[in-house]
Amino acid sequence: MGVITQLLRGRGRKRRLPLPSPLGTVRAEARALHVRLGGRTVLDGVDLQVAAGEVLALVGPNGAGKSTLLAALARDLPAGSGEVRIDGEPAAAWTAAELAVRRAVLPQSAQLSFPFPVEEVVRMGRAPWAGTPAEDEDDAAVRAAMAAAEVTGFASRPFAALSGGERARVALARVLAQRTPLLLLDEPTAALDLRHQELVLRICRERAAAGDAVAVVLHDLGLAGAYADRVAVLHGGRIAAEGPPARVFEAESLSRVYAQPIEVIDHPRTGEPLVIPRRAVRDFAS
Ligand SMILES: Nc1ncnc2c1ncn2[C@@H]1O[C@H](COP(=O)(O)OP(=O)(O)O)[C@@H](O)[C@H]1O
Ligand SMILES: [Mg+2]
Repeated sequence: MGVITQLLRGRGRKRRLPLPSPLGTVRAEARALHVRLGGRTVLDGVDLQVAAGEVLALVGPNGAGKSTLLAALARDLPAGSGEVRIDGEPAAAWTAAELAVRRAVLPQSAQLSFPFPVEEVVRMGRAPWAGTPAEDEDDAAVRAAMAAAEVTGFASRPFAALSGGERARVALARVLAQRTPLLLLDEPTAALDLRHQELVLRICRERAAAGDAVAVVLHDLGLAGAYADRVAVLHGGRIAAEGPPARVFEAESLSRVYAQPIEVIDHPRTGEPLVIPRRAVRDFAS
């Protein structure tokens, strides 16, 4: 099919809005995905799915390919070879407008800068719904997202005048306001204090409980262990391990992946795996 035909088709057919799907429906999927950037293989045969109703944590050392994988699942980055599917179709099948009501993407940290007050930044998340029946929910969606991310208090302040952590929460609120069935969050907790890290992961759980699919890049394996249904460990552009945290968080393999001795301890009260670097006993006497 030629480019012109594609454009005509895209215009000719009605924009397809996402439909509610039963829990477990795959919302995004990478199949044998290879991506090369700057002449280097960054993703080297990745198979991964994220489904309605689950929180999937992507973890792994710096440079493992987490952001690249998330961007590929969002179709923000083309697949080299292999395939990305969104809502059961090849990612390329969707128009930009259809994509924007299916998946919301929070890019890594404040590479983001907006010359607007906070509330307008959050309201930008509603743009994809213009001209659809969901437009009626705009005000409620913006209000709810700001309350969830605890940014209502600085609604009228300029985005650029906020602290790094405050900006991160506003950026998250924008993505929440978009109300898509697929959420792709790249290190949403990186700049946040302890309270707000917990808040963000609780929001992820709430969205999953409401039937959305959530993929979230995390460095804190404790957060992943406490909140994720499944964890995928990336290492050198491949999935080194994948499964429930209790199975994936295993000292020997994590130590290898992170090139750092690691201990995994069961939390005495909750039983969740606690992942901590193996440290020498401090000798206070000397
Ligand atoms: N545009 C690019 N050109 C060349 N190499 C890149 C580019 N973007 C990322 N990389 C490289 O790809 C690897 C994976 O990057 P990234 O997906 O950002 O890792 P992570 O998010 O796991 O830290 C890194 O080694 C990084 O240097
Ligand atoms: Mg990254």
